[in-house]
Amino acid sequence: MKATRQILKVDWHSVMDRRLGRHRLTSKDVSGLTSRVRSLIASVERERKTGLHRYRNLPHDAVMRQAVEDFAKSLSRKADNLVVLGIGGSALGNIALQTALNSPQYNLLSRAERGGPRLFVMDNVDPMHFAAMMEFVGGELPRTIFNVISKSGETAETASQFLIVQNWLVRKLGARRAAQQIVATTDAKSGTLRSIVEKNGYASLPVPDGVGGRFSVLSAVGLFSAAMCGIDIRSLLKGAADMDRLVRNPDWRRNPAAQLAIVNYLYYRRGQVMSVMMPYSNALYGLADWYRQLWAESLGKRFDATGKKEVFAGPTPIKALGTTDQHSQVQLYREGPNDKLITFLEVERFDRDVRIPHGSSDAPALAYLGGATLGQLLNAEKRATEMALLESERPCLTIRFPQINAYTVGQFIYLMEATTTLMGRLLGIDPYDQPGVELGKKITYHLMGRPGYEKMPRG
Ligand code: PA5
Repeated sequence: MKATRQILKVDWHSVMDRRLGRHRLTSKDVSGLTSRVRSLIASVERERKTGLHRYRNLPHDAVMRQAVEDFAKSLSRKADNLVVLGIGGSALGNIALQTALNSPQYNLLSRAERGGPRLFVMDNVDPMHFAAMMEFVGGELPRTIFNVISKSGETAETASQFLIVQNWLVRKLGARRAAQQIVATTDAKSGTLRSIVEKNGYASLPVPDGVGGRFSVLSAVGLFSAAMCGIDIRSLLKGAADMDRLVRNPDWRRNPAAQLAIVNYLYYRRGQVMSVMMPYSNALYGLADWYRQLWAESLGKRFDATGKKEVFAGPTPIKALGTTDQHSQVQLYREGPNDKLITFLEVERFDRDVRIPHGSSDAPALAYLGGATLGQLLNAEKRATEMALLESERPCLTIRFPQINAYTVGQFIYLMEATTTLMGRLLGIDPYDQPGVELGKKITYHLMGRPGYEKMPRG
């Protein structure tokens, strides 16, 4: 199958299944929302021209892509380890791409098998986790690149990770050599990290203006580590660009983001306020984690877009893994409160599959498995879970990947981002800010003794 023909499909037909009883969506429910969605799509397209929704232009930025590719090419051979220092939107996309598109054993492979450096994404300040990374790469420091990613340069977690690494590198290798081991991804013009870059002569890549962390995976933020680790970022961006064409379509029947937004919004309004994303694929689990942040930080808002009316909006995103969580969560999903919309991610064709042997004659109860593949079992379990959920009147839908590759992953990322924008508009909130995280940051400054924060901040 030619990769560029592999288009993701949103299969939302089960939300109209009669087994859902009163939790079923009808054509009337959907048509009640379609003209609103059509005009939202049109207004987003108009606003793009005025500089809003800037993440939407990332797949078309060939200059940025080329710069990342060239830079990664020049560094990849010199590095055995790449350590990403960052958090939230400056880390989750990197993890998601690596999990989806490289082998789960990638870091354990030999240099020749990997083709790029090992990848470690810190995404926290857990001291044991960080110390373990330092211990591991410590013996190979001259062949370790540290990519510090922070749009603001102010984030306490990333700043502390960076201060530790910078000091360590200078002590071990001297200031000149240390500078060659650091790549900073940050605002092109201003901010604390930008001034550190200028002062020390570090190499840097830009976080594009007007693109928030959780919408930045298709910029240098996510692309640099991906390119370093051999991921085909051209196909990734091509997938996103092709999805851009689809999600611009004013006709909701041909627009997968419109379909997802309509279904999610209608159920949210009916009380299905939990949004479970459940890939039947370990490779796609990192994307469910990335989506969890995208959805939560973008849609969870106290005030409406005018900033005046309290709305306390936002579905709660949950990640689950099939089949693993059939043995953990599905009991709750079927018999607990009917407050969830479950979005399955299904893979039509796995690149690798493993056949189950015909069992020995002393285990006739297992004979039915013989000759099938694990891929067949996984997808049969997905269908079984879907049917079981429908029997319990639990709404669900499926996003189907023809195959997992850079092209389809690029489509998925862009699809979920565009859906988030539409959902934000339907909910009447601003999906691009995150005022709710500020107070916690300020209290941390107070607790850590930052000048200017001597009094316990409130608000
Ligand atoms: O999505 C967001 O905006 C946040 O999750 C940020 O990415 C996160 O807080 C890190 O911010 P920064 O890149 O400024 O260090």
